[in-house]
Amino acid sequence: MNISILGGTGPEGAGLALRWALAGHDIIIGSRQVERAKAKAAELSPRAKGATIVGMTNREAAEAGQVVVLALPAAGLAATLPDVKDACRGKVVVSTVVPLTFGGPRLFTPPPAGSAAEEAQALLGPEAKVVAAFHHIAAHELASEHPIDCDLLICGDDPAAKATVAELGQSLGLRIFDVGPLTNAGPIEGIAALLATINRRHKIKSSGIKISGL
Ligand SMILES: NC(=O)c1ccc[n+]([C@@H]2O[C@H](COP(=O)([O-])OP(=O)(O)OC[C@H]3O[C@@H](n4cnc5c(N)ncnc54)[C@H](OP(=O)(O)O)[C@@H]3O)[C@@H](O)[C@H]2O)c1
Repeated sequence: MNISILGGTGPEGAGLALRWALAGHDIIIGSRQVERAKAKAAELSPRAKGATIVGMTNREAAEAGQVVVLALPAAGLAATLPDVKDACRGKVVVSTVVPLTFGGPRLFTPPPAGSAAEEAQALLGPEAKVVAAFHHIAAHELASEHPIDCDLLICGDDPAAKATVAELGQSLGLRIFDVGPLTNAGPIEGIAALLATINRRHKIKSSGIKISGL
């Protein structure tokens, strides 16, 4: 699959890029500055075992990708998504975004839409097929090449879009749980805030979650 990662210059997007490239997907790193995107693509390419990783602006990346992944801070959604709205029409858009505010009284700070994924859906319009996923897979875990020790929770309103994202998760060796409609993105994002707190308390970088009782 041809996957564009907006904000792919950051640790989460770059980690997903590397893992998906190693799984045989072609990757486009998106950035506000094309030079940054190209530099990150050049840095990752030698580890990609022949898969293609290229860098473009966020807008060009959104136009070129079959699937568009949002790996931006929540604060960047309102500035970024209107410019890629046309390019995302009809496409699967994966939100990895966790609305966190560091240094304030409240770490988990969801927007009025209820979650970053629902904010993304509102900004992109109903023709984008937004799926929330990958919030619990830490950048540190993605950066190496060992098996990822975490389950994947996904939610969204379009069953075919969720099937595509499940396929992307399976290509990383993940066990997938479809947890319902996009209105469940808030709890998914909230769990990521808890994992960030656990990481801080235990001085670790990649706590994750596993579903029991199956
Ligand atoms: N880090 C993790 O372990 C982790 C785990 C799960 C989920 N997430 C979520 O994944 C997303 C990305 O995480 P990250 O740690 O990679 O984030 P990050 O490093 O803070 O940001 C990723 C990229 O977004 C772009 N960016 C930064 N501020 C922006 C703004 N105001 N407007 C538009 N673009 C902006 C930057 O790229 P350019 O300057 O090149 O444009 C940056 O390299 C976040 O929403 C995070 O909550 C992260």
